[in-house]
Amino acid sequence: MNSDISKFYEKSWQERLTILKEHCQLNEEELSLLKSLRPLDFSTANIMIENVIGVFGLPLAIATHFKINGKDYLIPMAIEESSVVAAACKAAKIARLAGGFKAEAAEQIMVGQIQIFAAKEKQKEIIEKINANKKMLLEKANACDAVLVSFGGGARDIEIKQFGDFIVLHLLVDVRDAMGANAVNTMCEKLAFEIEKMCDCKVGLKILSNLAIYRMAKAKAVFPKEVLGEAVDAVIEAWRFASLDQFRATTHNKGIMNGIDAVAIACGNDFRALEAGAHSYACLDGRYKPLTRYWKDKQGNLVGEIELPIQVGIVGGATRVNPMAKLCLKILGVKSAKELACVLASVGLAQNFAALYALATEGIQRGHMKLHAENIAVQAGAKGAEIKKVALRMIEMQSINEATAKEILKEIRKGA
Ligand code: MEV
Repeated sequence: MNSDISKFYEKSWQERLTILKEHCQLNEEELSLLKSLRPLDFSTANIMIENVIGVFGLPLAIATHFKINGKDYLIPMAIEESSVVAAACKAAKIARLAGGFKAEAAEQIMVGQIQIFAAKEKQKEIIEKINANKKMLLEKANACDAVLVSFGGGARDIEIKQFGDFIVLHLLVDVRDAMGANAVNTMCEKLAFEIEKMCDCKVGLKILSNLAIYRMAKAKAVFPKEVLGEAVDAVIEAWRFASLDQFRATTHNKGIMNGIDAVAIACGNDFRALEAGAHSYACLDGRYKPLTRYWKDKQGNLVGEIELPIQVGIVGGATRVNPMAKLCLKILGVKSAKELACVLASVGLAQNFAALYALATEGIQRGHMKLHAENIAVQAGAKGAEIKKVALRMIEMQSINEATAKEILKEIRKGA
């Protein structure tokens, strides 16, 4: 499969679907799901959450040009914000010139937390008991999830942290290809009961932590100096701004999550978990920092790298219940949670590079304007072919607002 498809944005909807069908071997049922614009029926929606009254729409797009670890990907992105998909494509196209993204993901270990109340003087005894019975406790945890164990996953280790009047037990669980929240929470509830019995103490919370520090993903790419010219230094300066200033670092990281969340949503994953983990990791040492870094290689090319915790799955939860998520995973063609983590890290880096490149050169508004103007035209009541006409006229007039759009629309309709 070759994701280096030129001018995908200029193709009609039907042409885009035909390309997708050929590249991703979509069947008629999958194509009609895309064509129907009805991604979920009521009964599916109604088993996903409570009090359902309808289904909410978001545009679903494909980011082209991505090559990650030598493999081409067409990347589904669900997002309401214009320019994000175009920016990802542009960055992937530039990175591709130097071989694309190199990415890696660690073992898929999640942390579950159990809060154990114990006065300071009793803590040592409880910790010794837990350590002496570690094997038994891990076995009890694994007995909760025979399926996970059969796939080679399961509880691996226990760590202890001490606070004033309570201890926190960290249960480290290899969740394989699942996001893992359910598996970890079930294990924690079971272990909490065992610990209460064994240590004659009271247990508080039992819940996974979204600071998935054992589930890190990294991606790296070279952006050739022949394409960037002076922007190599400009991007590094833009990154330095984020590395020194928390106000900038927050927006810098927001841009990264634009891409990561969009792919996560398309693939039915919990983007709030990713957000929580990413921002918590960004200030792990007490100072909030950018999740990427940039430098120049010996030849003067720009090198970018991202590292962040990625907690995603390709089995279980919405990835299987939501037919659109299932389809997006098929389009993406990932075979494991690790591979999905590599894709997400690469998209995050692509998104960040594109934002810095634009911000450090022409600014982001120019690229933004066309779609923004079209949005305003729709708000002003433009329909069909009128939308582009009104948008173009507003850009020419350098006055993009609803009042101008209404004026132009009136003139167009008078002339028609
Ligand atoms: C907008 O959604 C994201 C950016 O603000 C990110 C950034 O400033 O780096 C463009």
